[in-house]
Amino acid sequence: MEFNIAFIGFGIVGQGLAEILLEQENELKENHNFEYKVVAISDTMKGSVYDENGLDIKKLLDLVNSTGKIEEYPSGIKGWDSLKTITDTNSNIILELAWTDLKTGEPAITHVKTALKNKKHVVMTNKGPIALMVRKLLDIAKENGVEMRYEGTVLSGTPALNLGLYNLAGAGITKAKGIVNGTTNYILTEMEKGLGYDEALEQAKELGYAEQDPTADVEGYDALGKIVILANTVMGANLSKDEPPCEGITKITSEDIKKAKEEGYRWKLIAGAEIKEDGSVKAYVKPEKIPLDHPLASIMGPINALTYTTKYLGDVTIVGPGAGKLPTGYSVLTDILDINRLVK
Ligand code: HSE
Repeated sequence: MEFNIAFIGFGIVGQGLAEILLEQENELKENHNFEYKVVAISDTMKGSVYDENGLDIKKLLDLVNSTGKIEEYPSGIKGWDSLKTITDTNSNIILELAWTDLKTGEPAITHVKTALKNKKHVVMTNKGPIALMVRKLLDIAKENGVEMRYEGTVLSGTPALNLGLYNLAGAGITKAKGIVNGTTNYILTEMEKGLGYDEALEQAKELGYAEQDPTADVEGYDALGKIVILANTVMGANLSKDEPPCEGITKITSEDIKKAKEEGYRWKLIAGAEIKEDGSVKAYVKPEKIPLDHPLASIMGPINALTYTTKYLGDVTIVGPGAGKLPTGYSVLTDILDINRLVK
C-alpha cells in the first residue's frame, strides 16, 4: 500500500517528521518497503494545501522556515480546514499533530473520530484524545477496519508504550515508574546548575520541550496524562485523568534543590502506576527526592526514563529523549512503519 499522508497540524512535531521523511526516503523504501506521498497539510496558523499527486516536502519546509505560510505553496488547493482535509482528500492516513488540550481533548478528538469513521488510519502524538478516551477510539478504529497508533504520547520516540505492549507482553508488568516529562526535568537540571526557574522555563519553551501552555508541564498534568495513557494501554487499567493525585514542580525552589544535593538527593518529578492486590491500578504524579546513587537521579535535561517492574524479568528500564522536534517526529514514523507492516 502506498501511504497518502495528511498532516493535521504542522508545528514542531510535524516539521520534525517531515525532515526525517525527506532524509530517509530511500532508506524507508529499500529497507522497510514503505512508500508515501504527503498529499495535504492543514494548520490553523500556517494555512493549508492539498495536492492529490503529492506535495514537495522540501518546498514546504523551506516555506515554513521563510514565510511561515503554507498557503504560499506554488500549486495545489488552498484554504481547506482540518475536517475537510481529513474527509475530502485522497489521504489514507491522518497524522493528528495539533495542539494538546487535556481538559476537552478538542479539536483532536473530533479529528481522530472523523478520520477513523472515514476509514483512514490515524497516528497521533496528541495526548488529549488518548488520555481521555483511548478505549472508545480504539473501538471506533476496529469497527472501521483501520489502525490507530500513539507511541509519541509517552516519552516521544523512546518506545515506552511499545516496550510494555509488545516486548514485555506476558512478562507480568506490575508497576511502571519514572520521569516522563522533559520540560520539568530540564528545568530541575538547569536550576541545579544555577539558573532561575523562570529562565529555565523560557529555555524549555524555546527548545520546543514545553507544551503550548507550559502550566501543563510544571503543574504535572502532562506527566499525569502520560501515566494514565500508559496504565490504560499497558496495564489494563481504565483510569480517568482526574483520579490520580497530581503535584508538579512549582513549589520546588533553588534552595530546596541545593539542600537536597547536599543531603545526597536530587528532586525529580516522578510518575508511577501500580497494579494493587485487588487488581485495581493506582497512579500518581509527584516530586520525589531520589538518592543520588539511584538510576533515576542520573537522568538529566530533557531525557526521560521509565522502569517497568515485571514478574519474570524484574526491573526493565528504558532511557531516552522525552520531548523535542526529531524525537517526537520520529515517534510518528515508528507508528506509520508499524501500520505499514500490518496492512501490507
Ligand atoms: N511537554 C512535553 C514534555 C512534551 O516536556 O515532556 C513531550 O510530551
